[in-house]
Amino acid sequence: MPLFTRISPSILAVDYNNKDVLLKALKDIEAGGANFVHLDVMDGKFVKNTTFNESLVDFVKNNTTLLLDVHLMVEKPEDEVDKYIKAGADILSFHYEATDDPEKLLKYIKSKNVLAGLAINPKTPAFKIKELLKRNLIDVVIVMGVEPGAGGQAFIPGSAEKVAEVRELDRSVYIEIDGGVNLKNSKVLRKLGANILVSGSVIFSSKNIRKTINGLKGWAWTHKMNSLV
Ligand code: DX5
Ligand code: ZN
Repeated sequence: MPLFTRISPSILAVDYNNKDVLLKALKDIEAGGANFVHLDVMDGKFVKNTTFNESLVDFVKNNTTLLLDVHLMVEKPEDEVDKYIKAGADILSFHYEATDDPEKLLKYIKSKNVLAGLAINPKTPAFKIKELLKRNLIDVVIVMGVEPGAGGQAFIPGSAEKVAEVRELDRSVYIEIDGGVNLKNSKVLRKLGANILVSGSVIFSSKNIRKTINGLKGWAWTHKMNSLV
């Protein structure tokens, strides 16, 4: 398991259709020490809301040094992944609940040299992905902390236990926790084995993005360093 926590801010929390706002958000999270930018693609079918498609992902790719963490909340992701691979996804995740053949799609994404991610909804138990983990087909498990479809929701408590269950099943897989993550629950989530934390509202509503990102990483000492500069 990697020793340190990666942070993946979700631009769902900013007005991403306004290019000036989006560019500033990307600069802010780069300067703040983020590792990824999290891109929530919603199709209005798998979830009620619709967000953006590959053209925005392509724009972000061309305007950031961060790795792209693309989270597809779409039906039939097998028909969609090529566009996002082409747009430059570094992690490409789809939902276990959205396809009949997750194994085939995970293998396909990996064959394109992209990290393959599988997201599980709050109601999907960890044991459902046991075999896929055993066979090393998943690079990143996204444990949803909320029902997918919107930012700014409250964390569903059982999701922390699910992080622990996935970690029990696999010592080395990346576990990404997405939805409702804040400075308070991030500590236990890290302890239970999450090593990529997604955060939209908490990061982008904070006055000091760097400090918030350091707090989510658990770098208490950096708070002190920040106050010195
Ligand atoms: C929910 C999305 C999340 C969301 C997280 O469907 O997958 O990525 O943007 O937002 P916060 O951190 O506000 O819960
Ligand atoms: Zn997401």
